[in-house]
Amino acid sequence: MVNYRIILTVCALVFVATLAGFFLPGDASAVERKLPQVDTSLYAEMPIPLQPAECGQCHGGQFLGLRDSGGKHRFACQECHQVFHAYNPRKNNYDELMPLCSTCHGQQHGAKKIDCLNCHQNPHTPLQIPAMDRLAKACADCHTAPAKELKKFPSAHTEQGCQTCHHDKHGYIPDCAECHDGHYDDQPVQDCMSCHTRVHAPLQIGFPRDANVKTCSGCHDNVYGKWQRTPSKHGQVSCVTCHQAHGKIPDCTECHGVPHNKKQMELFPKCLTCHIDVHDLPIKN
Ligand code: HEC
Ligand code: HEC
Ligand code: HEC
Ligand code: HEC
Ligand code: HEC
Ligand code: HEC
Ligand code: HEC
Ligand code: HEC
Ligand code: HEC
Ligand code: HEC
Ligand code: HEC
Ligand code: HEC
Repeated sequence: MVNYRIILTVCALVFVATLAGFFLPGDASAVERKLPQVDTSLYAEMPIPLQPAECGQCHGGQFLGLRDSGGKHRFACQECHQVFHAYNPRKNNYDELMPLCSTCHGQQHGAKKIDCLNCHQNPHTPLQIPAMDRLAKACADCHTAPAKELKKFPSAHTEQGCQTCHHDKHGYIPDCAECHDGHYDDQPVQDCMSCHTRVHAPLQIGFPRDANVKTCSGCHDNVYGKWQRTPSKHGQVSCVTCHQAHGKIPDCTECHGVPHNKKQMELFPKCLTCHIDVHDLPIKN
């Protein structure tokens, strides 16, 4: 017996397959495709090496790094990357592909610092060197003066590591205000170094002639208040005109010579016996 069901099913499948062949793209079209023709003009010119901005279309980080902070490394990428886009995980050759500093540089800072990339962590921004242990160990090799000064003039700053102040990256200069308040509320930070002229020897204090004497009020409130209110002429004389260095007491005669007769001076050698308070001279009426 012929199984009509099977015959019908086969016919139906053939019909569907034919339709599908008609509507879906199939192998048949490949046969009809025109074969490519030789066009030598396409090969007439050598390719122009990609320019940094073109590499930068895909490698934005490296391009921007060089553009903004590349310094003397702002030449063509391929000067360093003579071979690139050749990484093959099977060969595990990534490190081999990366340019070597020694191709162009000698031992810039001597034989102790040949691990260039430990400090110059990004060759595309060669002078941006982050703060880190490796660098901290080397400060004094290149900067002898600050280390010597800190040692010669012991202060609380001597106890701080260089990178406590010079943090984040090499060359960073901190504000005093990062760690200290002023001597009075809202003292401008630009004042600080007028007296503390040497931050690596902060207790070597000098008073410039135009020192901001409101500073003194932070520690000598009484004297400052008295001096500010006095009607006597010493109220017009700056603290630092008399006290030319911190703690130094002037002699009245430095400015006044010998103002009274010899006899009186012998009887009363101390000026303040009569003039009482140098910061608030009693005035005659
Ligand atoms: C002065 C040499 C130098 C120049 C110029 C330079 N590179 Fe590099 N580049 C290197 C070195 C060295 C490394 C390997 C860094 C590492 O191992 O950490 C590197 C790494 C890379 C990497 C791998 C990822 C990475 O950042 O570590 C890419 C991508 C790259 N460079 C792209 C560029 C592009 C794009 C340019 C130009 C716009 C460029 N480089 C210019 C030296 C250079
Ligand atoms: C069209 C995008 C594109 C362009 C243009 C391009 N690259 Fe790449 N590059 C990649 C990709 C994708 C990788 C692999 C992924 C990665 O490491 O970022 C890569 C990887 C790299 C690497 C590291 C791995 C290796 O095999 O070398 C370097 C170095 C590199 N490119 C340099 C360059 C330089 C130099 C140029 C310009 C001369 C350039 N690239 C242009 C996309 C690009
Ligand atoms: C293809 C050559 C080449 C390679 C590779 C190279 N450099 Fe340079 N680099 C130079 C040139 C050229 C200068 C400028 C030198 C000069 O003016 O004395 C320079 C300058 C520098 C500077 C000073 C930058 C400035 O703006 O003053 C640093 C830092 C530096 N390179 C570090 C490195 C490190 C680290 C590596 C390896 C990761 C490296 N370089 C790889 C060529 C190269
Ligand atoms: C311990 C950290 C450290 C190591 C390691 C190191 N450098 Fe430097 N390098 C510096 C610092 C810091 C500077 C000064 C940066 C500045 O001028 O702001 C510098 C400056 C440079 C300069 C600029 C010229 C100069 O002397 O001022 C070049 C070039 C340079 N380094 C190349 C190299 C090369 C090449 C190596 C590896 C052989 C290397 N450095 C290793 C920290 C380091
Ligand atoms: C490889 C040598 C080298 C090392 C290591 C080094 N420096 Fe420098 N440093 C330089 C050079 C070169 C300059 C730039 C020239 C200059 O201004 O003296 C500089 C500049 C500076 C400046 C800025 C000076 C200014 O006037 O703006 C500071 C701050 C500084 N370094 C602190 C440090 C500290 C802190 C360390 C250690 C954590 C350190 N440096 C490690 C070489 C080095
Ligand atoms: C208490 C904070 C502090 C400490 C600790 C400190 N510095 Fe400084 N350093 C500064 C400040 C603030 C300046 C800016 C001074 C100026 O403007 O004259 C400076 C300036 C510098 C300079 C540039 C000017 C110069 O004097 O040559 C270098 C280099 C430097 N420091 C290196 C160091 C080193 C190295 C150490 C550790 C041995 C160190 N500093 C410790 C705060 C500090
Ligand atoms: C990163 C923090 C830091 C910065 C920035 C800093 N100092 Fe200090 N300084 C200290 C610490 C910590 C001490 C010890 C504790 C204290 O007195 O607050 C100190 C102490 C001092 C002392 C007293 C020293 C002693 O031995 O008694 C003076 C003066 C001083 N700092 C002045 C300055 C001046 C001026 C600046 C800015 C040029 C400055 N400091 C910047 C951390 C800092
Ligand atoms: C007019 C000079 C002068 C100015 C300006 C000045 N100082 Fe002072 N500073 C002094 C004197 C004087 C001392 C006391 C030193 C002593 O005890 O022998 C001192 C002490 C300090 C001390 C030691 C801790 C303390 O309070 O006893 C710190 C910290 C300090 N100054 C920070 C600063 C800061 C921060 C600024 C800027 C906002 C600043 N100074 C501005 C003169 C000045
Ligand atoms: C941070 C605090 C501080 C500041 C700011 C300060 N001094 Fe002083 N001063 C002291 C201390 C502490 C002494 C020593 C202890 C004492 O004798 O009172 C002193 C001592 C003196 C003495 C000597 C006192 C004596 O009996 O021998 C004079 C004078 C003096 N200061 C003047 C000034 C003047 C002027 C200013 C402002 C330009 C100033 N001081 C700013 C803390 C300060
Ligand atoms: C005309 C000169 C003169 C001026 C201006 C002056 N002083 Fe004096 N100061 C002296 C003399 C002189 C003494 C010593 C007085 C004594 O032997 O009793 C002295 C003593 C001091 C003393 C220590 C004794 C005490 O009274 O606490 C302090 C602190 C002081 N001055 C701070 C200041 C401050 C702060 C200012 C500004 C607000 C100031 N002086 C302005 C001359 C002056
Ligand atoms: C740094 C200089 C200086 C020192 C030190 C100094 N004076 Fe004067 N003194 C002056 C000046 C300036 C005047 C105002 C002169 C004028 O305007 O004629 C003055 C005025 C006076 C007057 C007149 C006061 C008035 O209001 O008319 C007396 C009194 C006097 N001084 C006493 C003293 C005595 C006492 C001392 C020591 C304890 C002293 N002076 C230290 C600079 C100084
Ligand atoms: C025995 C008390 C006495 C002594 C000690 C004394 N004076 Fe006087 N001094 C006076 C009297 C009182 C006057 C006011 C006289 C007048 O106005 O004619 C005066 C006035 C002054 C004047 C103001 C002169 C003028 O022309 O306005 C000065 C400046 C002065 N004395 C400085 C000093 C100095 C400096 C000493 C210490 C070397 C000193 N005196 C010691 C009592 C004294």
